[in-house]
Amino acid sequence: MYLSREEERALDGELGPGLQLAMRILVKLGDLFGAERLLPIRSAHVSGVSYKTVGDVAIGFLEELVEMGARASVPATTNPCGFDERLKAILDLPDEVVAAQERLVDLYSELGLLRTLTCVPYYQLRPEEGSHLAWAESSAVVYANSVLGALTNREGSPSALAAAIAGRTPDYGLHRPENREPGLLVDVLFNPRDELELWALGFLVGQVAGDAVPLLRGLRGLPDWELKGLGASMASGGMTAMFMLEGGRPRPRGPLRELEKLQVGREDLSDVMDKLSSPGEPDMVFVGCPHCSREELELIARLLKGRRTERPLWICTSRHVRASCPEAVRALEASGALVVVDTCVVVSWVERLGVDLVATNSPKAAYYLPGLSGVQVRLASLGECVELACSRS
Ligand code: F3S
Repeated sequence: MYLSREEERALDGELGPGLQLAMRILVKLGDLFGAERLLPIRSAHVSGVSYKTVGDVAIGFLEELVEMGARASVPATTNPCGFDERLKAILDLPDEVVAAQERLVDLYSELGLLRTLTCVPYYQLRPEEGSHLAWAESSAVVYANSVLGALTNREGSPSALAAAIAGRTPDYGLHRPENREPGLLVDVLFNPRDELELWALGFLVGQVAGDAVPLLRGLRGLPDWELKGLGASMASGGMTAMFMLEGGRPRPRGPLRELEKLQVGREDLSDVMDKLSSPGEPDMVFVGCPHCSREELELIARLLKGRRTERPLWICTSRHVRASCPEAVRALEASGALVVVDTCVVVSWVERLGVDLVATNSPKAAYYLPGLSGVQVRLASLGECVELACSRS
């Protein structure tokens, strides 16, 4: 790989051991994927912040980096951790777990990362179209590539952190225009009735697409929050890191070459629903995977208007989004819902509440919750989730 003079100095350790370690990780990754150079990045987004999912190994690694004097050299945001202030009490977590989680977040801060603690960092620091990024968190990656027109590979936590420190990432994969062309043409033969049908379609497309960029035909006028969930579902169904919509941006550069084709009808969604959803009365309801936008919070507030929740309803979002719509947040909490920040049901310790079945509109949450928390999931649209939250079992 070609390295500039300054990059060579960094790799040789002349600029400190922290930067040297970051450069080693990036050069190794670049060699593995045949990158010819490193690219400067505008931002990094780092996952691996919930102590529940990364444990003590991550703490040890971050402590070493801090000791080596490593610091983020570009704006770098952080994914959700395991609790917010209120959940810490509600979940009644052991002191050592609380201390370990707080230590983990503090270490990221010491490394110069921002305490955004959200999977939707783009609502706070929106990347420019065409900018190169190094983002972990698959739902954010697919949104950045497909909705914002930025360029990022689907990084792991260590490579995103190394990129944050070095301010660079290897030039391969979705940083290269030739890899941002569609490889699968998906004809959608039905009009999704709600976001759940759309997101189940996304999960199915993710299962089929492999690492190809799917181009979806037949979907029109989707609001931002539905696109966010569509991408998140594709990324959890498979390895999708970018999709295109017919007539949308980004778009194919030239005429479409002969593409593999997939036709999807409403009946094809039943496999996804059977795989991810269990019947039964939920013990709680969760929306906000990925974290809610302001638009979603206002929409849920309208759906809940004049009603009271009868079951726990957690609505997860970021501090930034919560602060942007105080009236909606007040209305939601007045209805009995809990507007949760910094975390989500998936990366928190929801099993400590004795919950067996969670209702959610997110196929991504449905995919991860059983394995991470031993909790079953009932998939329901946002409207149905509100109904469930407002009804007694
Ligand atoms: Fe975000 Fe948690 Fe879903 S981190 S994408 S809300 S699993």
